[in-house]
Amino acid sequence: MTKPAESEFSRSNYYKQAQPSDEFVFLRAWLRAPLFTAAMLPSGPLLSRALAAEVDPKIPGAVVELGPGTGSVTAALVERGIALDRLILIEFNPDFCRLLERRYPAARVIEGDAFAAPSIVEKLKLGPLAAVVSCLPLYGKTPEVRQRLLLDMLTLGAPGIPFVQATNFPRSPIPIDASIMTASASKRIWRNLFPALVWTYRLASNRR
Ligand SMILES: C[S@@+](CC[C@H](N)C(=O)[O-])C[C@H]1O[C@@H](n2cnc3c(N)ncnc32)[C@H](O)[C@@H]1O
Repeated sequence: MTKPAESEFSRSNYYKQAQPSDEFVFLRAWLRAPLFTAAMLPSGPLLSRALAAEVDPKIPGAVVELGPGTGSVTAALVERGIALDRLILIEFNPDFCRLLERRYPAARVIEGDAFAAPSIVEKLKLGPLAAVVSCLPLYGKTPEVRQRLLLDMLTLGAPGIPFVQATNFPRSPIPIDASIMTASASKRIWRNLFPALVWTYRLASNRR
């Protein structure tokens, strides 16, 4: 029997095969560092797919994922048609990084602070980006720092690319300045451990 391609594992088997151990790894990380980990369990498939749905696989370039955890959203991005070698995964937690490297050897896993993502992207010449997808906990940072991350990442992208953010709160976790950006929210996704929604931000056309 031939071994399935790595991307095939990501596409079809992630939610069936990977979740029980991921849940354990995630819960352990949350017990050790609840504020950084920000969730007791990985995002469920509906939330992960809602985040990935905002990414257009036809736009060329790298897709940066901030706070990929154990790769639930990564799997949804692959399912959406993003090739693994386009994925840049920036994650703080070393255990999650090792797991991601094993699971997605063709993706680029960067162990580091996602708030330094703009300088990482510039230093490694990864732009212009096709999309940024984030599950980062943002409320530990000032509104200015959150908005700076968003604007700096969007500026590194092709015109009109999305910065997609998951949140458990109805209000935008990033201050919206309508003179420089657009923002829209999904409906609330109830079938997740904690109901969540997806905010999508883009630079206004006069800023591209
Ligand atoms: C809410 S979890 C989401 C994990 C995964 N994306 C999911 O949906 O299942 C937040 C993730 O962000 C990571 N994280 C938190 N702060 C970070 C930072 N400053 N830089 C990089 N990763 C960070 C955590 O380790 C955790 O993996």
